[in-house]
Amino acid sequence: MCYTVEMTLRAFAPGRVEILGNHTDYNEGVVLSAALDLGTTAHGAMRDDQKIILRSEKTGEATANLPSLQPSGEWSDYPLGVVKMFLEAGVKIPGFEADFSSTLPVGAGLSSSAALEVATGALLMKLTGFSSTPMDLAKLCRRAENEFVGVNCGLLDQATSLFGEAEHAVFLDCRTEAIGTLPFPESAALVIVNSEVKHALTGGEYNERRDSCFEAARRLGIPALRDATFADLSRMELPDLIHRRAAHIIGENDRVFQAREALQAGDPATLGKLMTSSHASSRINFENSTPELDLLVKIATAIPGVWGARLTGGGFGGAIVALTEREYALQIGAEISRHYHARTGHQTIPLICRPGDGAWHANTLGI
Ligand code: GLA
Repeated sequence: MCYTVEMTLRAFAPGRVEILGNHTDYNEGVVLSAALDLGTTAHGAMRDDQKIILRSEKTGEATANLPSLQPSGEWSDYPLGVVKMFLEAGVKIPGFEADFSSTLPVGAGLSSSAALEVATGALLMKLTGFSSTPMDLAKLCRRAENEFVGVNCGLLDQATSLFGEAEHAVFLDCRTEAIGTLPFPESAALVIVNSEVKHALTGGEYNERRDSCFEAARRLGIPALRDATFADLSRMELPDLIHRRAAHIIGENDRVFQAREALQAGDPATLGKLMTSSHASSRINFENSTPELDLLVKIATAIPGVWGARLTGGGFGGAIVALTEREYALQIGAEISRHYHARTGHQTIPLICRPGDGAWHANTLGI
């Protein structure tokens, strides 16, 4: 054996649910989210033979040789991208191996990829002794996804996976990178229902939406859509498509600020209404919904005890999140999936969640 396997260390990072603030992150806007109590656990140990061996319960084994790392289009790009960013930050990695297991559904818009990145980053911090603030680690993981995987995502997923807190929602200002938590209403639950229709952010739609938003900001003569108001929009003659994309972002930022007040006032009914308006805007303005997501929202919002519902995450498939009375969450989830199955034939198992701890609160970073 040409390597020494040292002590095995463990790190955990959760997935996230985007409560409100759709596609606002890369527009320097605001987002409300929560970490889930589902996520990815990494167990790993150092090697000294320049090899990286990654094993995933669900997706198999991948190997790579240091120091040159190239993306392959496989799941291993997420952890390898993080390794690459550690190397660029000057961290010495002589080789390592890691086993990943996950309780998150893949492709549901719950950030299984960010959980994989953050779990890798947290594990590498422990293995190498490299120290980073949670925000710097979130940014490093985002860079891994942008530069190595090739998805131009914002900071929402990685920041929530790190800063989430049990029983709290996360409020993130993507311009100032200020991040804080707000108590999640005692009486509420989050019911997440996967449409079971494939969601792939590596598809061009996400980057296309991003380009339209940047185009809108450019035409409005502002640094980012964060700075736009509805009054600015009505003053400018923008092409219809660009107008609607911008209207979505402006509306979402407004709704996130209103939602923050609703949470401060312990008012889930108002938060729910804002979520349902957000979905309508996704459907009409941003066109990142699907017939299945629209159907799920329609079914959910017709059930007593549901305060509101919307698609969550990038869109183009994936899951909806409904804000429901906590007491009835189980029955509500079952009813949504029963109706959805009757209408589409898709079997779906609802997740009933309360916000969980992010990697930092779960003490997984070793700092
Ligand atoms: C995906 C991206 C995030 C964010 C959301 C949409 O989850 O990874 O950065 O843009 O879509 O709000």
